[in-house]
Amino acid sequence: MNSLLDLEKLDAQVRHADLVKEIRAHDAAYYQEDAPTVSDATYDKLRKELEAIEAKYPDLITKDSPTQSVGAAPSKGFKKVRHAIPMLSLSNVFTHEDYVEFRDRIIRFLGLQINEETGLDLLAEQKIDGLSCSLHYENRQLTRAATRGDGTEGEDITDNVKTIKDVPQILPNDAPDILEVRGEIYMSHEDFSALNMAQEAAGKPVFANPRNAAAGSVRQLDPKISAQRPLKFFGYALGINSQKVSETQDGVRKKLIEWGFHVPEPHYVGVGVNGPYSFYNRILEERAGLPYDIDGVVYKVNRLDYQERLGFVSRSPRWATAHKFPAEQAVTRLNAIDIQVGRTGALTPVARLEPITVGGVVVSNATLHNEDEIKRKDIRVGDMVVIQRAGDVIPQVVKVLTKKREGDPPAYEFPDHCPACGSRAIREGDDVVRRCTGGLICPAQAVERLKHFVSRLAFDIEGLGSKIIELFWEKEIIQNPADIFRLKDKNENGEINPPLQEWEGWGEKSAANLFDSIDQRRTIALNRFIYALGIRQVGEATAKRLAATYGNLDALKGAMKAAQNHESEAYTELIAIEDIGPAVADDLLGFFAEDHNLQVLADLEAALTIESYEAPQTSGSPVADKTVVFTGTLTSMTRPEAKARAEKLGAKVAGSVSKKTDFVVAGEDAGSKLKKAKDLGVEVLSEAEWNALTNG
Ligand code: IVH
Repeated sequence: MNSLLDLEKLDAQVRHADLVKEIRAHDAAYYQEDAPTVSDATYDKLRKELEAIEAKYPDLITKDSPTQSVGAAPSKGFKKVRHAIPMLSLSNVFTHEDYVEFRDRIIRFLGLQINEETGLDLLAEQKIDGLSCSLHYENRQLTRAATRGDGTEGEDITDNVKTIKDVPQILPNDAPDILEVRGEIYMSHEDFSALNMAQEAAGKPVFANPRNAAAGSVRQLDPKISAQRPLKFFGYALGINSQKVSETQDGVRKKLIEWGFHVPEPHYVGVGVNGPYSFYNRILEERAGLPYDIDGVVYKVNRLDYQERLGFVSRSPRWATAHKFPAEQAVTRLNAIDIQVGRTGALTPVARLEPITVGGVVVSNATLHNEDEIKRKDIRVGDMVVIQRAGDVIPQVVKVLTKKREGDPPAYEFPDHCPACGSRAIREGDDVVRRCTGGLICPAQAVERLKHFVSRLAFDIEGLGSKIIELFWEKEIIQNPADIFRLKDKNENGEINPPLQEWEGWGEKSAANLFDSIDQRRTIALNRFIYALGIRQVGEATAKRLAATYGNLDALKGAMKAAQNHESEAYTELIAIEDIGPAVADDLLGFFAEDHNLQVLADLEAALTIESYEAPQTSGSPVADKTVVFTGTLTSMTRPEAKARAEKLGAKVAGSVSKKTDFVVAGEDAGSKLKKAKDLGVEVLSEAEWNALTNG
């Protein structure tokens, strides 16, 4: 029997060697020469045969076997690109009221005197549901294209974008030497259907919607595949450029058209308060007949000098907003209610639904928010429910169709113990959220914290996504953040056994890639580091403010220690930071009061270089890193604009005067703050003096 098997194996070995050679040759033709030598079906058959042999005789697997490279395409990934000007997202409005509030806020910020004739010049345009892309032109040649990524850093998709016919590769002579055009890559309905039909015919997975199809196509490592996907592009804004192109957003649109770009049409420009809103209603009606997906209308301040003055807050410009279309709804059955435990221990109920298509996407889960929501809506397992999804928002259960309820199912009882660790789950004060009290012993919290730690806006470790974190957690390889940075050592000294490179589906290369991407993140900006800690209520914007206020980790730790005493100067300084009130301060101080958290910090500090906070674009600014308090009535600009401008120059704007205040800017009728400044000997500037200092 042995000899028979051996004979079989010998055959297999010969066939294996042949297959390796043949598939490699096809790969080379396909990937390097752009000239496939066999049909997809034949290629797939060869690969399947190879896989079958390797499954039966694992010791025949050789390093050069095509099965050993991750995926089919060369697994280089995309180069990262830093955006010279961050690529922002848009705030949303959903109602007419929201829109008016958006407009009023701008008028207030700029301190404009508006009447019927003067109005505020706004431009409105369709919001294309695709993916944003930045195009760089140098001397009128397309030199680079990048995705938005996290807004600061995107991926270099130049080769793929060069295959999009809508994207001009060369611009006319009047275009600036350096020019960045921003816009949306999308796929039309017609092209989307055709692509999905082809995918289906080839036995490949179909895409859920045109946006996913466009995103998947652009992110193909192989530009050849990208080229076969019918992608389109609409321009909607400029990034950096070496020469002023226009005074207005509408002028920018006109230039884009002259230079050969497509821009969304129709559009609206006008000063009346009702114009943009009527345009929105018109587009809402026309939406169904459009050949591509839109998810709303964007309102933009037309004057570019106003845009500049308005700047942005957090991740969105103040000068633009998206008016989103109302949510799409559908009715389906709620099969079960599951409880998920988040990284802060919050127990979140999730509805498991009979899968249904809502607005082109198959939905099988929806959020139920919290215990009180379930009670208020009287949601019971087995009910027929109305669900809705709006844009990227997680689908929600709107209401129960009680008339359709069969029999009398019991009311839902929310668990009072954590489903992940069994600890008690409690509600504190008037918090609507029930939380697990297990802290770090709760596996759900630990895993979720780790996922947050490596997520895009935090450490952003490539190749270490949620699935791998879960796997490493299960195998007890990564149990706290510092373990991530010990991974390579553990792998080398035998603590991970068998070592990663011998795990199924891994190999030397993927293990080395992972260690590399971890090493790349050993140096991290302070704000990202703070955000990564996953402290409750400390989101990205708050993390940035903390980083800007304290500058480095030691100062932050020192301040948090001192601020444990609510009577201290440190506490006063903490709650003077914008967006940090007593509640956020409690969560922050709670985090820094726990020994095990301080231990995690110490372990991380030993493994990392945490960069001090660098205020953006403030070199040479006379007020960089200075703490400023505005008081009294300002006459040359509004308070919000003064604050935004000071922050742009790297100053920190505080709400109250303390010994740490560098300047108090006193407008007309300044009162107690001015007095306090004088008492403490803080330098006081008039508004004119401040303007002279900052305009210099
Ligand atoms: S203007 C944020 N105009 O929507 C900077 N954006 O949800 C100003 N988008 O990241 C953007 N159509 O990718 C603008 N006509 C349009 C747009 C548009 C789609 C995208 C854009 C942005 C996203 C925010």
